[in-house]
Amino acid sequence: MSTGAVGRAYPRLEGPAKVTGTARYAVEYPVNGVTYGWAVPSAVVRGRITRIDTAEALASPGVLAVLHHGNAPRMAPGPQPELRLLQEPMVHYRGQYVAVVVATSLEAAREGARLVRIDYDAGPHSTVLTDDHPGLYKPDQVNPSYPTDTAEGDFDAGYAAAPVRVDVTYRTPAYHNNPMEPHATTAQWHDGRLMVHDSTQGATPVRAILAELFELPPESIRVVAEHVGGGFGSKGYAKASVVLAALAARHVDRPVKLALTRQQLFGPIGYRTPTIQRVRLAADTDGRLTAISHDAISQTSTIWEFAEQTAVYTRSMYAAPHRRTTHRVARLDVPTPFWMRAPGECPGAYALESALDELAIAVGIDPVELRIRNDTAVDPDQGRPFTSRDLVACLREGAQRFGWAGRDPSPRSRRDGRWLIGTGVAGASYPARARPSSATATARPDGSFLVQIDATDIGTGARTAIWQVAADALGVPPERVEIRIGDSELPTASLAGGSMGTASWSWAVIRAAQALREKLPGGVPPTGEVTAEADTTEEVGGQPALPRYAYGAHFVEVRVDADTGEVRLNRMLGVFAAGRVVNPTTARSQLIGGMTMGLSMALHEEGLLDERYGDWVNHDLATYHITGCADVESIEAYWLDERDDELNPAGVKGLGEIGIVGAAAAVGNAVHHATGVRIRELPIRLDKLIGVSGLA
Ligand code: MOS
Repeated sequence: MSTGAVGRAYPRLEGPAKVTGTARYAVEYPVNGVTYGWAVPSAVVRGRITRIDTAEALASPGVLAVLHHGNAPRMAPGPQPELRLLQEPMVHYRGQYVAVVVATSLEAAREGARLVRIDYDAGPHSTVLTDDHPGLYKPDQVNPSYPTDTAEGDFDAGYAAAPVRVDVTYRTPAYHNNPMEPHATTAQWHDGRLMVHDSTQGATPVRAILAELFELPPESIRVVAEHVGGGFGSKGYAKASVVLAALAARHVDRPVKLALTRQQLFGPIGYRTPTIQRVRLAADTDGRLTAISHDAISQTSTIWEFAEQTAVYTRSMYAAPHRRTTHRVARLDVPTPFWMRAPGECPGAYALESALDELAIAVGIDPVELRIRNDTAVDPDQGRPFTSRDLVACLREGAQRFGWAGRDPSPRSRRDGRWLIGTGVAGASYPARARPSSATATARPDGSFLVQIDATDIGTGARTAIWQVAADALGVPPERVEIRIGDSELPTASLAGGSMGTASWSWAVIRAAQALREKLPGGVPPTGEVTAEADTTEEVGGQPALPRYAYGAHFVEVRVDADTGEVRLNRMLGVFAAGRVVNPTTARSQLIGGMTMGLSMALHEEGLLDERYGDWVNHDLATYHITGCADVESIEAYWLDERDDELNPAGVKGLGEIGIVGAAAAVGNAVHHATGVRIRELPIRLDKLIGVSGLA
C-alpha cells in the first residue's frame, strides 16, 4: 500500500531552513548566560606537564577560568582513553588538549588561551610510519572485529607457480576529515543533569559515552544534534569538544559553547591512518587470478588501539585458490587515527584496484574484462553466495556510458596538444549492514502522523529519506507525516555511519508503522493520539550472517600536462548497485560526494608530518588541499535498479561510502594510461610525474 514516496526525488525537508540560516547547528542555539571555551593544545609530542601558570590568563578581561589537569572536574576512565582530557599531566601526542580557557566572549577566551604558560618535561618521540618500524605488531583483530590475518590455499606456492605475477607496494598518507562544521558543542548543567547540543553522527552513542565519563544514568543526559555540518566518520564517536565543553560548563557552572578551530581538527579528532600496502597478484595467461595477497601496515597511537581493516576489501572482492591477507600496526606518538569515509575499504581498494590494473597490463587483457573474468558469485571469504552482486553489471553499464570500447591500452597513446590523455577503471564494494534501532509512529485525530527516531542527518538527506520511507510504510502521502530526529530523548537508534543509517533507521520506522497500522486499522484515531513503537534489536540480531555488499565501477579520464605533469580531471563516471534508492537527489549527492573525495585523495590531500616537530605541518585549508568545484570538470553517478530481499525491509544497501571506494585507483590508473608512469604513493602530485617521467 505504498504511496510511492520511496524512489521520488523530494528536496530536503530542512533545505529552506538551511538556506535561510534558521537551521541551528551545535553552537548556534541562544543560551542565557552563555560563556565560551577555547581549547589549548599541547606544545610537545610526548612528555609531562611540569607547571601551568594561569595568572596572566586569569587577569585578562572576560576570562572566567582556566581548566587543566590540576583543577578540572574528575571523570571516570570511560570507554576511550583519548577522551580522558584534563585528568593527568601526561602528554601523548602534539595537539592533545591540555587546558581550556572559559571567558565571557569568544575573543576573550582565545586571548586567554594565548596567555596560558605551560612547561613540559618532554621525551623522545616517534611519529612517522615506516615498513620497518620497531613498534610494528600484530593486533588481536582489526576494526570492527575482523580477523587480523587470513589464509587459504598456499599463497607462496601458488604465486611462485603462476606465469604472470605482480608484486607492488602502494602508500597512502594521513588524510584529515574536514567537515564544513568543525566539532562543536554547547553544554549546560542543570540540577545534576547534562544537556549538550553536539555536532555528532549519533546522539545516542554520545549520550552513552558521556554517561560513562561523568558517571550519570543516561536519562540524566540529553544530546541534541538537529543539524550537523558533515562528519565523514570523524563525528562517529564523542570527541574532545563535547568532553571539554561538559567539563568546562560544570566547572564554571554556566553554559559553555566550545567549537574547535579548523586548525585544531588536524589530528586530535582522528584522521585516516597512513598505509603501506604490499599487494601480490598472480594469474594464468587468461587473466584468471590464482594467488592474491595483501599485506597492510598502518598506525595507531600509544593510548588506544585503532587497527584499520585495510586488507579486508581484498578478502571478498575477487576469488583465487591461494589467498592471504595480513595487518600490522605500529604504535606511534600520534593522535589515534579514526574513521574517515570507508575506513579500510577505501585505502585497501586503492591498492588492490591499482594492482589489478598493473596485472591487466602484465597479462595483456583489458582491465574491465580482467575484472569481469574474476567475478565470483560466492564470497571467497565466507564461502557463501552473495545476497546480490552486480559488479559486472556496473562495469558493463559504466563502460558503455563512458565509451570505453575501442580503448587503445597503450600508455601515451592519446594526446591533445600539450595534454596527454588517459582513461582508467576500478571496481568498488562496501558492506551493506544494519544496526538495531527503535522508532515510534503516532497517529493524530487530524489525520497526520508523527514518526520519531534518534537518527542523525549529517548533511546526507537522511531526514528526508526516512520521511519518505515512513510515508510509504504508513500508507499515507508524505505531506501528512512529520518526522523528528537528532535528539537522544527520541527512540534510540544507530549512528549515521558505516553506510548503514538508512538501512537501520528505515527498518525501525517500517516496523513502527506496521505496528501502528495493526493497532489502528482505521488509520485515524477519533480522539487523542495513538502511538506504536518498534525495536529491531532482535530482528537485526537474528539476521543470518550472509555476505551483503554494494558494488560499483569507476571510470575516469584525465589529462596530464606533458611539460609540467599537472593532472586535471576530464571526466569521472560511476555506476553503482546499492539496492533500492530512496531519494535520487540525495543519493546522487552522496555518490558524487564520495567520488569527489576519492579524487581529492588521489590528487590533492596529504597530511605532511614532520618528525622533528611531531605533527602535521599543513593544518588548514590553505595548505591541506581539498578538491574544489573547479577540479571536478565533469562528474556523473548512475545506479542500477537493484532488488535484494535479503537486506532489510527497505531493501537499501546504503551509499554514503561506496562512492569513494576505488575512485582513487581509477584516477591513478588513468594517469598511468596517460603518461606511462605509475605513481604508487598518493597523492599524485605534479612533481612526482615531472621527476620520474621526463615527460617533456
Ligand atoms: Mo563513516 S567513516 O562510517 O561515518
